[in-house]
Amino acid sequence: MNVPKHVAIIMDGNGRWATNRGLKRSMGHLEGSKTLEKLAIHAIDMGVKILSVYAFSTDNFKRSKEEVDYLMDLFIKMFNTKFEKINKKGIKVVISGRKENLRADVIEAINTIEEKTKNNSAGILNICLNYGGQEEIIDGAIKLAEDIKNGLDIKNFTKEDFYHYLYQDLPPIDLLIRTGGELRLSNFMLYELSYSEFYFTNTLFPDFDKSEFNKALFMYEHTDRRFGGLNVKENN
Ligand code: IPE
Ligand code: IPE
Ligand code: MG
Repeated sequence: MNVPKHVAIIMDGNGRWATNRGLKRSMGHLEGSKTLEKLAIHAIDMGVKILSVYAFSTDNFKRSKEEVDYLMDLFIKMFNTKFEKINKKGIKVVISGRKENLRADVIEAINTIEEKTKNNSAGILNICLNYGGQEEIIDGAIKLAEDIKNGLDIKNFTKEDFYHYLYQDLPPIDLLIRTGGELRLSNFMLYELSYSEFYFTNTLFPDFDKSEFNKALFMYEHTDRRFGGLNVKENN
């Protein structure tokens, strides 16, 4: 089976999932967090090496204080206690995004989970929190500018070299999944998605279970990735 090495998920639709049931939006986020735990383990079982997930965008601070506070408290609970199964599975957890604007107790929980799982080697779960794709490129460009100022020679600088300046030095994304029915990127991993395959589904994230994930893997298996070239048959 041709399994994507790096899968990314825009975990959208938590709020609608809850509203559809007459519940508060926060209950959708809680349910979504359970779905994420299960999916991270399942993805590794299926042979995926890296799972990047969009948990909170820089623009999500525009939401009500109540919703933002709930989400921040939920991240703390996830990192401090709920990710025990993910740790036992041997998954290394890393967090991508700007630390400015985050509460001190959220940063502390981020440091705890990263430290606790840093030697794990079964796979990587990259959680994008206070993350923006354009911000990541800007932050990378600033780091690169500093290196140039300090004498870095950029005569032969490549697209691949720029990955070292992103939040995590991970390979490009092979498969992007967006749940919740919208057909947009909402500022997610713009640099890393350049040749990714896209899988969009109306399923709301809390309902995106293992079998839904497998449908995306199945689509990926049957796509012909050309990277601007031609496939083997057409090349003859
Ligand atoms: C995605 O679900 C999770 C976050 C943005 C934190 P939403 O909260 O955007 O859910 P909908 O799109 O309103 O249903
Ligand atoms: C994208 O979803 C962000 C996350 C899933 C964390 P949004 O719900 O914030 O995106 P828009 O507003 O539909 O573009
Ligand atoms: Mg949404």
